[in-house]
Amino acid sequence: MRTPLIAGNWKMFKTVAEAAAAVRQLGELVSGVTGVDVVVAPTFTAIHAAAQAASGTRIGIAGQNLYWEKEGAFTGEISGGMLKEAGAAWVIIGHSERRALFGETDLTVNRKIGAAFASALTPIVCIGETLDQRERHETFDVLDTQIRQGLEGLTGNDLVRLVIAYEPVWAIGTGRTASPAQAGEAHAHIRTRLRQWFGADAGDQCRILYGGSVKPENIAELIAQPDVDGGLVGGASLDPKGFAEIVRKARPA
Ligand code: PGA
Repeated sequence: MRTPLIAGNWKMFKTVAEAAAAVRQLGELVSGVTGVDVVVAPTFTAIHAAAQAASGTRIGIAGQNLYWEKEGAFTGEISGGMLKEAGAAWVIIGHSERRALFGETDLTVNRKIGAAFASALTPIVCIGETLDQRERHETFDVLDTQIRQGLEGLTGNDLVRLVIAYEPVWAIGTGRTASPAQAGEAHAHIRTRLRQWFGADAGDQCRILYGGSVKPENIAELIAQPDVDGGLVGGASLDPKGFAEIVRKARPA
């Protein structure tokens, strides 16, 4: 039985004060909602304050990225240990914006997963095809490559300690959500590969989130798909009330 997970990706939004206030409000709104894991990913500067605001609530805190070295002359980077110390327990890795704008590849994703494990952070590993790739019917090939290279060297035991987020790039921030059938088909494909490559048990246990224009109005039909275990939510996670509604609607029936 996979516990649903709703993760909010705040991207480059919210100051320290705004992030702490949003976490406090969200904490109250979801305090009675059981059976769903809830995570938010503030900017690096707000992680510590957000983690303090989250203490005593059921909200987990995630970084949006990390670097694989522990420390050193890597201007502008942050390590897994630093994220952990600041109060994060999770980290998003390989988001499509990082891949498209900041040169991340499946190879860097792979190194970052190792670094996250080394610091006892739970990676949320993002994969997904672009519109061009979908139109050329390459979606499954793209996903296969991202899984194979991104998760290279990992075992079944590792797989159950991470979360996959399937985020079709054409659905991110566009208001254009994948239909439940499209999401369901991609998730089923990912699950099949995870079972083949990491063992049936590990493949069955690994949570696969859907991301791309998730909102209160569509989460129920998405999560009703058998292999959709929750959502990675961007825009709709910024408002605590709307985000809490998504969390409530993700509860197991
Ligand atoms: P969106 O973003 O919900 O605003 O489409 C999702 C994401 O980028 O993780």
